[in-house]
Parts: sequence; C-alpha cells; structure tokens
Amino acid sequence: MIINTQLENKGNQFPSKIISYKKDVDTLYFTSENNVVLQLTIQRDSVLRFRYTTTSIFENDFSYAITRYASRGFNHLVVTEDDSKYIITTSKLICHISKEDMRKSIFDAKDNTLISEDELGFHWEESYEFGGNIVKMSKNSQEKESYYGLGDKPVPLNLKGKRFENWVTDSYAFNKDTDPIYKAIPFYTGLHHGKAYGIFFDNTFRAYFDFCQERRNVTSFWAQGGEMNYYFIYGPEMGEVVSNYTDLTGKPNELPPLWALGYHQCKWSYYPESNVKEVINKFRELRIPCDAIYLDIDYMDGFRCFTWNKEYFPDPKRMVKELADNGFKTVAIIDPGIKIDNEYSVFKEGLEKDYFCKRADGPYMKGKVWPGECYFPDFTKPEVREWWSGLFKELIVDIGVKGVWNDMNEPAIMDVPGKTFPDDVRHDYEGNECSHRKAHNIYGMQMARATYQGLKKFSYPKRPFVITRAAYAGTQRYSSTWTGDNVASWEHLTIANMQAQRMCMSGFSFVGSDIGGFAEQPNGELYARWIQLGIFHPFCRTHSSGDHGDQEPWAFGENITDIVRKFIEIRYQLLPYLYTAFWRYATEGIPILKSLVLYDQADTHTHYRNDEFIFGEKILACPITEPNAKGRRMYVPEGNWYNFWDNTLLKGGNEVWVDADLDSMPIFVKAGAIIPKYPIQQYVGEKKIEELHLDVFFKLGNEKSQVYEDAEDGFDYKKGRFSLRNFNLLGKEDSLTIQQFKSGKFITSYETFEINLIGLPFEIKKVEVDNVIIDISTNLRNNILVITKEFTELHIMGK
Ligand code: GLC
Repeated sequence: MIINTQLENKGNQFPSKIISYKKDVDTLYFTSENNVVLQLTIQRDSVLRFRYTTTSIFENDFSYAITRYASRGFNHLVVTEDDSKYIITTSKLICHISKEDMRKSIFDAKDNTLISEDELGFHWEESYEFGGNIVKMSKNSQEKESYYGLGDKPVPLNLKGKRFENWVTDSYAFNKDTDPIYKAIPFYTGLHHGKAYGIFFDNTFRAYFDFCQERRNVTSFWAQGGEMNYYFIYGPEMGEVVSNYTDLTGKPNELPPLWALGYHQCKWSYYPESNVKEVINKFRELRIPCDAIYLDIDYMDGFRCFTWNKEYFPDPKRMVKELADNGFKTVAIIDPGIKIDNEYSVFKEGLEKDYFCKRADGPYMKGKVWPGECYFPDFTKPEVREWWSGLFKELIVDIGVKGVWNDMNEPAIMDVPGKTFPDDVRHDYEGNECSHRKAHNIYGMQMARATYQGLKKFSYPKRPFVITRAAYAGTQRYSSTWTGDNVASWEHLTIANMQAQRMCMSGFSFVGSDIGGFAEQPNGELYARWIQLGIFHPFCRTHSSGDHGDQEPWAFGENITDIVRKFIEIRYQLLPYLYTAFWRYATEGIPILKSLVLYDQADTHTHYRNDEFIFGEKILACPITEPNAKGRRMYVPEGNWYNFWDNTLLKGGNEVWVDADLDSMPIFVKAGAIIPKYPIQQYVGEKKIEELHLDVFFKLGNEKSQVYEDAEDGFDYKKGRFSLRNFNLLGKEDSLTIQQFKSGKFITSYETFEINLIGLPFEIKKVEVDNVIIDISTNLRNNILVITKEFTELHIMGK
C-alpha cells in the first residue's frame, strides 16, 4: 500500500484474474474479471507501453509528450501462454503477465536476467472528489538497484531512498531537497546487475515517485488522476535508455544557432538603453566573449507583454540593430500573464477571441503577476497557440530580437496558496477538455511551444531560440531551459551541477543555471568557480536578480575578470566540440553531459558520484565547489586521461587529488581523443575560421572522434549541407595513424588543419599524408603539423 495519497474510504483495488486476451498487430489486450484492461503495445523490441483502464474503456489516447516522430516497429514478437501466465517475447525482452492478478515481470531476452517485476503492480483508489482514479504502480526493487533521472530535482544523482512529487512549481530561492520545483519530467532510470532500464510515466496529473523510501524494497509511482500509462524502456546501457526515451519524447526540432552556445549575459534588469550599451561595450572593451544580452521585464510598458517602455527604450529597433552590429543578439522575456487593461491590444484581442482560461463556473482565471491582475491564454488550445505565435512578428521581424525567454509559466501566480491556478480552471487540452489538475504540468510546455512556433516562423531562414522555465517531458523539442531562481551559495553551485546532469539524463540537454546565483550575491571566488562549471553547461548564462549588486564578469575585480575571461575563452575555443555533442544529442538523443554512471555503469564506483561529469564524449570536468580550495579529490573513470592544463597522463579507476588554484579547475581529456578548436572570438561569426585546430591526444590503440560543422545557423544542414568528419585514431609504440571519413555537402571556410600531437611516445621521423611523404623540416614545429583538411590517412612514424 502507498501512503500519502488522498486515501478514500474505498481503499486499494486490484485487477482480478484475466479472462480474455486479444492481439491486434502490435498491441495486446488482457481483460480481467473485474473489467480492468491492460493494453500492452510493443512500441519497439526494447520499448513496451503499459496502459490500464478499470472501466473497460480507455480515454482518448493523447499525449503532449510523445513525438509523432517516435520510432515504432519491432523485429520479433511471439505470444505464448502456460497455465499461470502469458509470455510475450521480443528480440530484446520477455514479459510475463500473471493470469491470476495481471502482475508483470520483465526479463532480458538474451540472458534471462530479471529486470523489472511488479510488487502489487497496478492498483487504484476511486477518487470521490473528482471522479476517476488515483492510479498506482509498485515494483520490487532489485538487489543493489540505483535510480536516476526525474528532471530538475535538486538532490544528489542517485535517487534511492527518496520520494518526489511532480507538480511544476515556481520556487524562488529553492534549496537542496526542495521538491517539487519548476519542471515535471516523469522519467527515471533504474540500474542493477549492470543493466539499466527506464520508466516513463506519461501522466500529467500531480504525480509521485517513491524510490524505496516508504518500504526498503519497493519502488512505486502514482498520480492523482488520469490513466496508469507508462513506457518500459530497456537499455541495457543507460545511454541507450536515455536515447530511447528521447526518441519517444523528441529531440530538439533543430540545432540551435551556434551563437546560442556562446556566453550570454542577463540581469533583472538592464535598463534604460544606456545601461544595456554600457554592459555590452564593457564586454568588448575587456575582450570577454559574449553573444547574447537579455532584456528582463523592465523593457516592457508596465510589464505588458509585446510592448516597450519608450522612456527607457525610445527606439528599440535602432538599439537592437546597434547591439547586433556589435555582435550581440538580443533576447527578450515574455511571460504568460496578460494585463487586464482595456487599452491594451493583446488583452483586448485575447478577450474578444475568447482565448483566456476560465474557472469551472465561467469567470476568467484572474491572477496577480508582475503587471498586476492578469488573464492567461489557454495554451492548450491550438488556435490560441497560433494567435500567440503571431504576436511575435513585431518583436522578431520589425525589431530584430533573436530569442525569447518564457518565464513564470508554471503558471506562477502571486499571493495565493499553491502559487498557481486553482484546480478547477478549465483547459481545452487539444479538444480533450479538462481541469487544471490535468493541464497544470504541461501549461508551461505549451506556452514554450507556442512561442517556438512564432520564432520559427518569424526568424526564418534563421533558427529559433527559446528558453523556458517550466517544462514537462518533451519540452526539449521546442526550447532550452534554465534551472530557475537559485541562490548565490556554494551549495547551489553543487546543486546546479547535479541539476544540469540530471536534466541531461532526463532527455533535456540544453540546460544551464543562473551562473553566480539569482538571489543574493556571490563573492568573486564563488562567481569564478561557477563560471568554470558554467562553461561546460550546454546553456551558459550569468543571471541575477540585480538587487544584490552587480554580477558581470568585471564586478569582482581584475583578478576575477581575468579568470572569467580565460574560461569563457575556453568555451569559445571548444565551440566546434560542443556543437558536435549537440548534433549527436539532436540526432541520436545522446545526452551532452554524461554523469559518470551514464558514462561507465559497469564501474560501481560511479553509481554514487555527483560532481564529475563528461562534457560531450571526451572531456572530463569536475568543478571546485568549496571556498579557499587549492584543488580537490575526484574520481577519474577507468582509462587514460590527459590533464587539460599540462598534458600529463593519468590512469583512471581511482580517486585522486587534483590541484586547482582559483584560475584553474580539474579538466581531463580522454586518451585517443581528437578535440577540434576554433580561435577565440568575441562572438560567434566574428572571425572567418581560417584553419581548424585539432588537439590529438595519443593513445596506444583505437579511438574514434567526430567533428560536425555547418553554416552555424539556418536550415540548409537539414538538406545535407553539413560537414561531418569521422576520425579513427590508431596509436602504436612507434607510429600514429589517423583516418578521416568525411560526409555532407557543406564546404568549411578553412582549407587546413593545424594538428597538435600530444603525448607521442616517440620522436617523429617521418610523416605521410595519403601515402605521400611530407617535408617535416618545414611542416612540423613542436609536434604541430599543418595539413590539408581533405586528407584520408595521416601516418606519423617514429622510424
Ligand atoms: C523570475 C525569473 C527570473 C526573472 C524574474 C523577473 O523570478 O525566474 O529569471 O529575472 O522573474 O522577470
């Protein structure tokens, strides 16, 4: 039994014995004597969907989370039965369903390892207050099982022993263990016996997850309404689980423009115009790279969305152009609350067209946010999203804004209990009308989606850029995200690191935190340490509430400015590397940050590590999270790693002390890696890339690396105009061979590679490029070699 649900007097009910079974192509139906139907869909050989009704009739099958591009189809499906059970076999899984009580067990088809097993399995309580059921599922936890994922929970990565709630919540100055916060991503990964599987509970009602907290050996999840509807996703590698989940709920619809992977500067708020100019000029004067500047709510007229305060910003179009001429993209905030004001066109139109949310008995949903009393568009209605997307025309086309920041979209309401809409508010939900109980967790997602549609339409032929605070599973298709209103404390630096990793293993990689902390003020040391972490987050932005002092890279004295510059420069050098990782995420669903457990689940040392992570495929980073540190202890995963700063080689599989004064941090590169680098630019596109620098880290044996490039914006890459370089490195005692396989039609601006050979165990005597000997007396200096980008085989010899 699960406690803490709103127990009704009727108590738990259970399916009784199965009396009929039916198969319809990829879907099986099992019906019990007491009218429970289990619908089992073989989505893929490794992905099973379980769906239950207790009334023999299913609800309309609709999900905001599942993408229409989700893969379907299997190679093998056989259903047999014996006296006690049905046996469903795919090429990856075997699922047993008990005839007695519908309980299920799932095994790895290769070696019969038990992967997941119902404890009570599906059970429910009738909801007297709202009708329908409180739906529940419980499973036996397997020996030494660990749990990961679940979105933005501010807790250590392994969730075992904890209970969580999913209810999207505005959480100003949240803290370690605050739950719930801004996002609801009902997907977790379980790992035991070296094998990982995932559960995606696609139910948008307020939901709970218990990982062996209530009972030591039981994991359960339940929701206050809707259907028990979940996907079982098999690995056995955790990376496969996450990419299969991302296949279901969607990858980003397109790559971000490359500038969006640069550094961003934000504050609540930069105004008036002269202040914005001062900030951007200072970046250029101090030569600190920066690509985007944000306008928070004060750019608006009385916080009315889609308006400008003309006193602060007399000519936004001119200003935005001047910022652009200086290499800055302007990103503007847009909140969901529309001020009640009969003189305000957006309000008037929304009212006339009946686009605002209403209470159960008819009045509008009225709530206080920044502009005062507001009404709120019902983003769950396609027509409303279409209208909303059209509102961006002026901002994007006429004024030239390049990105939009959606905030307060939980939706957040001030001065009311629960900080959001009351439960009775009605929503269209794509024609499946419902109350806020069901729509709450997806409201922010649908706002981000409508905003995305607007940006996509009006930014064309450039790529859209959206950032959202609230999210449900699948929001990664439309938007980037940040972790909300954190605090300038050392603990929050640790939390930011865990949150970003956790979001990445929850299918949402385009994530970052407010660098330095939103509430309160960091000292220079904390800010510098946070920048060091932030340059490794896919989204990299300093933001602060502004009322605790300045938080620009120069606000803490020259020494800190120099450190911040040095690290942001590293980010800009690594842009082609990060872009390649993003491309892998957008095409294959591979998380951009890999927690050590995701990187090497076979190594049990990794199961409880939180701080170290892999950035992309080859770089290991670990932030310093304590004041006055001269370094730290960290776990270096198995394999050989080069210290990023001095190229010394370290053998992993141990915890080690790593020196890191304030101007440094522990960074390592995997042996065998080929890391592409661009020159330092003040903003993306400042310089024409004349040569691609490749750092080649010698390894005895094989290693593969990739470099993905394209026009850095636009959609031509979708038509094949990209450049993908696959490198195969083979190191031997006295030679190193690199093969290159190139695909795609994009022609890069450079003609040559500058190859820096690191860690060669021999002295170079001879170099051949595509079997032609090249003159090393002129072409080689300090193990740096310049060769054509077209090479297919580079052979470096010590004899
Ligand atoms: C919210 C946001 C924060 C923003 C502020 C004002 O607190 O989370 O990022 O600066 O609102 O718009």
